[in-house]
Amino acid sequence: MSEVTVPHPGAYRAVIAGTGSCVPAKTLSNEDFTRMVDTSDEWITTRTGIKVRHIAGANETTATLAAEAARIALADAGMAPTDIELIIVATITPEMVFPSTACFVQHYLGAHKAWAFDLCAACSGFVYGLATAREFVVSGRYKSALVIGAETLSKITDYEDRNSCVLFGDGAGAVVVRRSSDGPLGVVYSSSSSDGGGWTSLNCQAYGSRHPVSRPLDDPKKIFMTINGREVYQLAVRRIVEMVHECLECCRLSIDDISMFIPHQMNARIIESVAKRIDLRPERVFINIDKYGNTSAASIPIALDECRRQGKIRSGDIVLIVAFGAGLTWGASVIQF
Ligand code: ACO
Repeated sequence: MSEVTVPHPGAYRAVIAGTGSCVPAKTLSNEDFTRMVDTSDEWITTRTGIKVRHIAGANETTATLAAEAARIALADAGMAPTDIELIIVATITPEMVFPSTACFVQHYLGAHKAWAFDLCAACSGFVYGLATAREFVVSGRYKSALVIGAETLSKITDYEDRNSCVLFGDGAGAVVVRRSSDGPLGVVYSSSSSDGGGWTSLNCQAYGSRHPVSRPLDDPKKIFMTINGREVYQLAVRRIVEMVHECLECCRLSIDDISMFIPHQMNARIIESVAKRIDLRPERVFINIDKYGNTSAASIPIALDECRRQGKIRSGDIVLIVAFGAGLTWGASVIQF
């Protein structure tokens, strides 16, 4: 087993006790998009790695998907909703402007003892949430937390814009973080950063106070996400590579100590380019973007859950998760299972 240095140890460890995920049944294939915009399966596959994405049905919302992923994670951990003391939902497609999606999830689960709040950091939301939960658990303040990444990006996708519509999907992933005094080290280290100056690269401008939907919009397309794909592509590769080096250095690990690398599923080419630059063998890189597209905050917890259920993470393994998204935001965590 690899020796890991814990840079900021607390009184306790914050271990991942369970994982779960949930995606809507309805799907949109690349073939479906050829009937909606000027595109092809060949373009989407070679440029992004995406084949299919799941799209919320009439009765599915961010909170219903989040609650279902949480129920599966709780069952996996062998815990009841009333065991949970903290619920963090990372999302950019909340149930409503207010109350928070986390409050809806708390209600749906019957997690009466939990403190619940949302966190907005786009694709980095889950990693930010895990870093936050870790601090509360290692300090001894809470024994258990649910960290959920959940999105219904289809609600803010412009299905007339071929540059963006093929990229996104809906879904939710959840982890139970539990206090422990021995066994695996759990969440060993988290790195989180932001650069608000980069907000123009990725955004959805309506619904807030600057361009409220309660007033006529100067551009009706402001209700949808816009992205500068090429700009984000280059920045994402650079920041992700930097974070990997920082995590390895802080935890005194080598790249060979990483059993599984689970990056935000933004684009298969971005992931492959990062893997090449950090000299990581392909079998240690988890990619499932072909089945889900980019699900923003949900992408890492969905991938983590799938990776575990496929038996690709064993006891003692060190997993590195890393994300980059709107804000701009970026973050990573080293986790021992
Ligand atoms: N089908 C066919 N052609 C397309 C499509 C499409 N769906 N979309 C764009 N094109 C065209 C463009 O119009 C452009 O044509 P032009 O050269 O005539 O102008 C051409 O393809 C090439 O465009 P590029 O931008 O160079 O394509 P690139 O190889 O960079 O791939 C992509 C684009 C997939 C968007 C890539 O840049 C990427 O993945 N970027 C990061 C995505 C991103 O920002 N994700 C975060 C989203 S925010 C969030 O998650 C909340």
